[in-house]
Amino acid sequence: MTELAIDVKGLSKAYGGRKVVDAVDLQVGAGRIVGFLGPNGSGKTTSLRMLCGLLTPDAGEGQVLGLDFRREAEAVKRQVGYMTQKFGLYDDLSIRENLDFVARLFSMPHRRDAVDGALERLGLASRQRQLAGALSGGWKQRLALAACLLHRPRLLLLDEPTAGVDPKARREFWDQIHLLAGEGITVLVSTHYMDEAERCHELVYIAYGHVLARGSAAAIVAEAGARDLEDAFVRLVGQATDNFSAAA
Ligand SMILES: Nc1ncnc2c1ncn2[C@@H]1O[C@H](COP(=O)(O)OP(=O)(O)OP(=O)(O)O)[C@@H](O)[C@H]1O
Ligand SMILES: [Mg+2]
Repeated sequence: MTELAIDVKGLSKAYGGRKVVDAVDLQVGAGRIVGFLGPNGSGKTTSLRMLCGLLTPDAGEGQVLGLDFRREAEAVKRQVGYMTQKFGLYDDLSIRENLDFVARLFSMPHRRDAVDGALERLGLASRQRQLAGALSGGWKQRLALAACLLHRPRLLLLDEPTAGVDPKARREFWDQIHLLAGEGITVLVSTHYMDEAERCHELVYIAYGHVLARGSAAAIVAEAGARDLEDAFVRLVGQATDNFSAAA
């Protein structure tokens, strides 16, 4: 059996008595790229934040990178790179200065090496003196990815990392994700883009905090009797709306 980077069962979180993540099971094989899809407000960000130890779950057991994700949340955090939906960069600092700032913030040892490594890995070395504020959206995303790779995480949790980025830059960003996965890094990435979903090894689709489908894009389309992935998701969420929204 393949090693699992994420193996969590019954993940749950409620806000004001409303369950926004309801008994979600997630298994992600090491080195896989898994897409996390679902409508706005379906619980993707909440789930990702619980997995990386930033948010305490109401329920759920299991392991992230072989560690108890609840009891060893601090150790999990050190090995996970989390790219938030709205990441912050300093426009008036250069690419290198931004990375150096993040490295200082986390009191990283061998800071210069870590920054050099991240610059090299993301193809940012030749642009390191450019101000972040002058970068195009695509290069900004790449810098944000570099920042969350500084501490050499084994697992990346990326929350809509390419929202609002043009197709060419998105494609390049995904080429990069595949390179990282090739190095053995596991990636769980949320997205609303179907072309990105097609580039994942597997997908997990949630709505109303429940997993409605999982597996390869082809399997999900076949299972739903749909034309394509988008059609499959529209059908799935339509059924879920009948089942769950009345209860919500
Ligand atoms: N801190 C909070 N307090 C109260 N409600 C919250 C909080 N965080 C999230 N929610 C609610 O939980 C639900 C799930 O939100 P979440 O951000 O996880 O969705 P999402 O799938 O990431 O959506 P999107 O695709 O828009 O990013 C939403 O209804 C949201 O309003
Ligand atoms: Mg979100």
